[in-house]
Formats: sequence, structure tokens, C-alpha cells
Amino acid sequence: MEEIKVGLIGFGTVGSGTAQVLYEQAARLEKRVGASIRLVCVADINVDKLPEHLTESGRITLTKDVNDIFSDPEIGIVVELIGGIEPAKSFILKAIESGKHVVTANKALLSLHGKEIFSAAAQQGVEVGFEASVGGGVPIIKSLKEGLVANKIVSMMGILNGTANYILTQMTDHGTPFGEVLRDAQDQGFAEADPTYDIEGIDTAHKLAILMSIAYGMHITHEDVSIEGISQVEPIDISYAREFGYRIKLLAISRNHGDHVEARVHPTMVPEEHLLANINGAFNAIHFTGDMVGNVLLYGLGAGMMPTGSAVIADVVDIARNIMTNAVNRVPSLSYLPEHIAPRRITSIKDLRFPYYFRITAADQPGVLSTIAGILGRHNISLESVIQKSRRQNGAVPIIMRTHEAEEAAVQHALTEIDRLDICTGATVKIRILDETGKD
Ligand code: HSE
Repeated sequence: MEEIKVGLIGFGTVGSGTAQVLYEQAARLEKRVGASIRLVCVADINVDKLPEHLTESGRITLTKDVNDIFSDPEIGIVVELIGGIEPAKSFILKAIESGKHVVTANKALLSLHGKEIFSAAAQQGVEVGFEASVGGGVPIIKSLKEGLVANKIVSMMGILNGTANYILTQMTDHGTPFGEVLRDAQDQGFAEADPTYDIEGIDTAHKLAILMSIAYGMHITHEDVSIEGISQVEPIDISYAREFGYRIKLLAISRNHGDHVEARVHPTMVPEEHLLANINGAFNAIHFTGDMVGNVLLYGLGAGMMPTGSAVIADVVDIARNIMTNAVNRVPSLSYLPEHIAPRRITSIKDLRFPYYFRITAADQPGVLSTIAGILGRHNISLESVIQKSRRQNGAVPIIMRTHEAEEAAVQHALTEIDRLDICTGATVKIRILDETGKD
């Protein structure tokens, strides 16, 4: 039986999960591929010993020199699982240059340097698999590249960061403060090495940029995405959201307007009956709307050793099958052929309109409300409701406002003006509201 040899760079959580599944499921994979997929070399500078069951046959080499993988002509597929930009980028380019196929879970790298990596791979005639970069074990990328290939993707809306969703869920269900839940998420091992990426929406933006490049056949980096995170969300916002019939979720949203596309990540008040309002804990979900298929929801674990390992192996198997059938690059990296990947204008968030929730922190004194309402009125922002309840210890009060649909640019100007007032003692928190029709 033909053997397809794999080199693994990075034996951390996902790397060891991947090695484990390749070992345990070898017989099943063989029946599905018609070849045996064999891990032959693991490179990791921090690991001195592999688990005994992996090495007992003496067939897996452990090395601290990654060049052992690049220089082995028998290795056909290199799996990169170290994350981060460098040295991961150099390793991937070196693997491609050495004529090896690559599988990676590195969303930060692909969202920033995907163009260079995919074009190097196309030139060399090798494949780059990246299913594990978005949604962990949920086959989002394959669905988009293949299952939904007939469709114009009209919109995508998803929860793509398990850590942020876990934090918001714990705050919602138990009223636990933000910092405490974050520590808990870190202990459970799904937060990024730098949790700012999770909390500030950057990890979600990495993933959205990857999905947009496939859905629309465009080059986009996460730097083109308008990003707001969840660090300003407090339990009070969550409890008002509940009172109004919403759950707060960190959503990645893109709508396709033809010559321009939206690209944004921000906390959103989602109506509680909406499917995405009910995705809880560390789970991920993505809601696609295609012009032919209508609505599709994919849901599952977006992080963790085994779910992410499952996605890595799906890519390894795809490549192995293509090798076996002489069909390498059967599916282009971004689904569109490289010559059909074109620039697309990104809609400025300032041009969009949403209903909003505001939490304004102001002194509890006469005239405050009319001053604030005056500013909003001058910017053409119409109020739906206003709530002011208890006074806080320092004499400041939270004023909760919901607006009718208003233009983002006007809201930004109005809130800058409001926050400059002497009577306002803290920065206003604004959360966009997804309306009942699913449009936000
Ligand atoms: N930190 C990420 C998350 C891991 O929490 O979803 C998976 O990309």
C-alpha cells in the first residue's frame, strides 16, 4: 500500500491531538484514502520526548531542527501548528519551496499573508489546506469552497471566537464579572496566547477575512475589517439586553452588496429567538445566506485539541486523496481560480445604519437628559426609549437609550460630542442591535 508521509511542525495542544488521531485512526483513514497516511517527523524546539505509544514502532523522529522536515524528500505534506506570524510564515514558504503540500490552522498568518502564501503554492503546484483556521472542527471552509459553490454568498454572520462567546455566556447566565470568566477561559485552554485577540475581536476578524476571501474571491486582510471587541461590555449591559429581549454576541458580519462588501466585527444585541442568540459557551456558529440555498447554519466546537485536530486531518486526507488520484489542486485554495480573484471595495461602517443601545454615564443633575437628547436630535438620531434607574455611589448614573435606525457616522459624531460634556463621567458604550428581520 502506498504511504503518504507527513511532517508536523509544533507539538502543542493541536499538534499532539493531530498526532494522536493519525495514530489511532490509521486503519479507518487507510480505508477512506486507499493509502496509509503516516506521521514520520515532529519538529518542536520545546519538546524533548514524544508519548511512548507514538514512538514505540520507532517510526516517528522527533527533531528540534525543522529543516529535517523540509530536506526529507519522502515527506509530502507538512502540517504547521505553531501559530503566529514568524517563524510560521518562513516555515510554510520553505515547505512550499521544497515542493511539499501544507496544512495549517494559522488564521493570523493567512489573514495577513494569505495572498503571498497561496500564490507561492499555486506557482509550485502544491496545496495549502486551512480548514482548522476557522471554526475549529466545524467544516466551514469546505462547505464554503465546495458545498455552497453554486451560490452567490449574500451574507455571512457568525460567532467565530469561543473565548469571547464563553465570556459573554458566563456573564449572561451567572452574572460573573468579565475578568473572572477570562481567567477561567484561559485555564480551559481555548483562549489565544494573547487573549486580547479573543476579547478585542481580532481573532474573529482574522477568521472573517479568510471567509470573505473565499466567499467573494477577493484578497482582504483583517486590517480591512472594522473591529470592536467586548471588553467594554458590563453585566449591566447584559441585563438590559435581557430586559429588551436580546442576547449580546460578538458577531462577525459580512453582507455582499455587489461592488462593495461589509466586513465588521462587533458586539451585537441579537433577538433572543434568533439562532445565533442561542449559541452558548465555547461553541462557534456561522450563518450563511446563499442566493440559491437560502440560509445555512453550521455549529460546533471552534477550538480545542481534538476538534481542531479533526479539521487538520480532514485537510491531510483531502490532499492525500488528490495525490492518489492525480488531482492535486482540484479545488483552488480560495475556491476561485487565482486569476479570478479581484479587489472589492469594503463598505465603510460609517455609511451603515443600525438601531443602537447606548449606555451613557452622566452626573445625576437637572438638565442632563435634555442636553444629551439635544445632541442626539441635532445628529438626526431618534430615540425609541430611555431608562435611568438607580444612582451609583459616585453620583453618576447610567442612562440607557435605544434608538431607531440611525447612521453610524452620525452616531460616532454625536457620542464624541456627548463624551466631551463635563456632565459625562465615563465613555459611552454603544452596541448595535440586530433587528427582528435578521438585518442589523
Ligand atoms: N482562541 C480561539 C477561540 C481559538 O477562542 O475561538 C480557536 O481559533
